[in-house]
Amino acid sequence: MRNYTTEADPTPLVGPRLDHLLPDLIAFRRDLHAHPELSFQEYRTTDRIVARLEAAGLEPRRLDGTGVVVDIGEGPIATALRGDIDALPIIEETGLPFASLNHGVTHACGHDVHATCALGAALVLADKHREEPLGATVRIVFQPAEETMPGGALACIDQGVLSGVPRIMALHCDPRIEVGRIGTRIGSITSASDTIRIELVGRGGHTSRPHLTEDLVFALSQIAINVPAVLSRRVDVRSGVSMVWGQIAAGAAPNAIPAIGHMAGTMRCLDREAWHSAGELLDEVVQQVAAPYGVDVRLEHTRGVPPVVNSEHETALIEAAARAELGEDAVVLTPQSMGGEDFAWFLAEIPGSMFRLGIHTPGGEEYDLHRGDLIVDEGAIACGVRVLAAAALRSIRDL
Ligand code: NI
Repeated sequence: MRNYTTEADPTPLVGPRLDHLLPDLIAFRRDLHAHPELSFQEYRTTDRIVARLEAAGLEPRRLDGTGVVVDIGEGPIATALRGDIDALPIIEETGLPFASLNHGVTHACGHDVHATCALGAALVLADKHREEPLGATVRIVFQPAEETMPGGALACIDQGVLSGVPRIMALHCDPRIEVGRIGTRIGSITSASDTIRIELVGRGGHTSRPHLTEDLVFALSQIAINVPAVLSRRVDVRSGVSMVWGQIAAGAAPNAIPAIGHMAGTMRCLDREAWHSAGELLDEVVQQVAAPYGVDVRLEHTRGVPPVVNSEHETALIEAAARAELGEDAVVLTPQSMGGEDFAWFLAEIPGSMFRLGIHTPGGEEYDLHRGDLIVDEGAIACGVRVLAAAALRSIRDL
């Protein structure tokens, strides 16, 4: 592995090339923002991306249903860049002139910006390739349905988007980082989150004779307290497994032990290996905690996504790209989020890295993702395009 791609190299590879494209990209993003589409329904969005890529002389391939893949350059693939494209079932409350025309749906997670940054990177790289061959291929994946479980990334992988791809990079908007900066982190940057539902069934009866019943209220309370406690001793504490109940329900009368009860919660996990092993362990622990009470236990464990685990080298490529394009102080350390992100499925196959793109206007209003009032500082678009495209160019030098 040669190091010069990640060393401080102050030469911007993208900067000026982007200037003439920028007004068009901002208009493109506003159009997507006004016409948001839910997961796996991104037909118009897909059409717009395809049209813009074809207008640039590229040959995009539509994925089944929605989503697009396009290759730029020739020869071996140096990297893939991924932008997700779907919106959320949230009512927009921004009052922007280009606010959602599709009532009840909005780009509250900034995926309109992600799609636009991926498009911008494609256009910049195509432009550069026309002048002087890139010497390798960069694959851009416009991925549908990030907001579903287990996520549209799996559908992309099933359709071969990773074949011949040695690494993959992506960005996600972050309203806690100022525009002009990016946030990076080596290792886990998001978490796994699974949904756990438990049903207990037993012989109910009078509370004066609990020995003649299977007291599932007592059993539920034991599970509520002891399962998280046992997990904390059976799983490496560094994996950050966190079992938290959000729901518990059984019974109707103070003097009657019910015959059925339910509880539900989430199991979050910071570590990929622990996520794999914790599922089996959970089932075992729940059964064993409930066993002395003689109740029947049914456990439903719905898998979410694994954590996004950023590799060291690809994170360094992104950081070097950001410092050269945006300035020496453009990179900040970002904390691990307890949220989930289906980019993790790509990173389960090949190395790669996701970075946080600052979208906060300095001194401006504070926003959060997945809220109807989210406003993105559009200055972030140029930053996102520059870092993605420059990181791809560094990946080519790295081949
Ligand atoms: Ni998102």
